[in-house]
Amino acid sequence: MTRFHGGGNEWPDYYDFSGTGNSLPPPRIIDKLLYEMIRRRWHTIRPEHSYTFYREKISELLAPFSVEPNEIVPVSGVSDALRLSFLIFKPKVVVVLEPCSGEHRELSRLFGAKYAPVTFNFEESICNMDLSKIESLSISYGDKKGLIVVSNPSNPAGCMYENRFFELLLDATPRNWLVFVNEVFGDYLDYSHSALSLHSERVVVARSFNKTLGLQGLRAGYIVAREKELVTKYDAVRDPWPISTLAAKLIEMLIEEEGLSGYRSFIERSKRSLETEKKYIYKMLTRASYRLYPSVAPYILIEHAWIKHSQIDLMLDKYRVRIRDASTYYGLSKNFSRIAVKTRSKNKVLTWALRQIAVESGIIVY
Ligand SMILES: Cc1ncc(COP(=O)(O)O)c(C=O)c1O
Repeated sequence: MTRFHGGGNEWPDYYDFSGTGNSLPPPRIIDKLLYEMIRRRWHTIRPEHSYTFYREKISELLAPFSVEPNEIVPVSGVSDALRLSFLIFKPKVVVVLEPCSGEHRELSRLFGAKYAPVTFNFEESICNMDLSKIESLSISYGDKKGLIVVSNPSNPAGCMYENRFFELLLDATPRNWLVFVNEVFGDYLDYSHSALSLHSERVVVARSFNKTLGLQGLRAGYIVAREKELVTKYDAVRDPWPISTLAAKLIEMLIEEEGLSGYRSFIERSKRSLETEKKYIYKMLTRASYRLYPSVAPYILIEHAWIKHSQIDLMLDKYRVRIRDASTYYGLSKNFSRIAVKTRSKNKVLTWALRQIAVESGIIVY
C-alpha cells in the first residue's frame, strides 16, 4: 500500500482523531432522505450522466459567487478533481504550496511532470509566502504548462490564504499556468475568501460535501471552472457516473428542502462549535507543552519538539487514541502531528491522553 491517509475504519474501538471532517453529525434530514430513497429503491437506478439537476442545485448553493450550471463538473470528491486536472491539463511542472494534503507528488511522478514544492509560512492564521520563489520557477519553466496546487484552508497547517494572495500569484505566473484550489474545507472560509469569488479563467476550484456534511461514505463533489473549454475537457474525461444516484439525489434534495439558508445554518453551527472546541483544545494542550498552530479548519497541526510522533503513537495506544502522523507531509519533521477537532466529550479524552504523555515523559508535572 503506497497511499497514506488519515481516518478510516481500521480502529473501530479507538477514539480516532487522525481523519478530518465535520465534528458535528450530518444534519438529521440526511437520514430521512436516505431511508426514503432506499425505500423507493433508487440505489438500483443508474445516475443521470449529465447530472443536469445536480449542477443546477450546486449553482443555487453557490449563488453568492454567481456560478452557472455550465461552469460546474460533477466529481466524487476533491481527490478525483485533482487527478482529472492532471489528465486534462497535462502539466509539465506542478508547483505545490507545501505542506499540502493530496496525491500531487504521486500524480506528478505518474504523469512525468516536474514536482516543484514551495513552502509557505504557517505561523499565523493567514498563510503567507515569498512569491519570488514562484516567480523564479515560472522564469525557469515559463514556456511549459504549469499547475499550481493550493489547499485553502491548508491541510495540515490550518491557516488560510486571502484572495489578495491569489491575485498576486496569478500576476506572478505565466498565462499558461493554472491554479488548482482545493477547497475541500472551503465552507469554513468566509465567502470573501473563497477563490470562487476571483472569477478567474485560470483558477479551478474543487469542493465536496464529503467532509463538511460528514458524507465520507457517500462521496459527492464538484469542480468549478470559469473557462468553457476546460469544463468541456473535464466533462469529456470524467467518470461517466462519478457520483452515485443516492449521493447525487441526496445533495439535490437537501438543497431543495433546506435551501441555501438551511445549508449555511448547518455550516455556521459547525463553525461555532469548532471555535469553542478549538479554544478548549488550545488551552489544554498549550499548558502541556505542545505547540499548536493557528487554524481556521476542523483540525490543528501540533508540534512536540520533545517527542517523535511514532513514540506518541505508541504511548497513545493504551488510551485507545489515534492522531495523524504529520511528518508524511512535505517539510514537516517527525515532531509534528495533526489532530482532528471533535465534540467536547471526545476532545476531553484526546487532551487528557496527550497531557498524560507529557507527564509520563517528564515534560510537565501534575
Ligand atoms: C486537504 C484534502 N483534500 C482532499 C481530500 C479528499 O477529499 P474528497 O473526499 O473530497 O476526495 C482530503 C481528505 O482527506 C483532504 O484532507
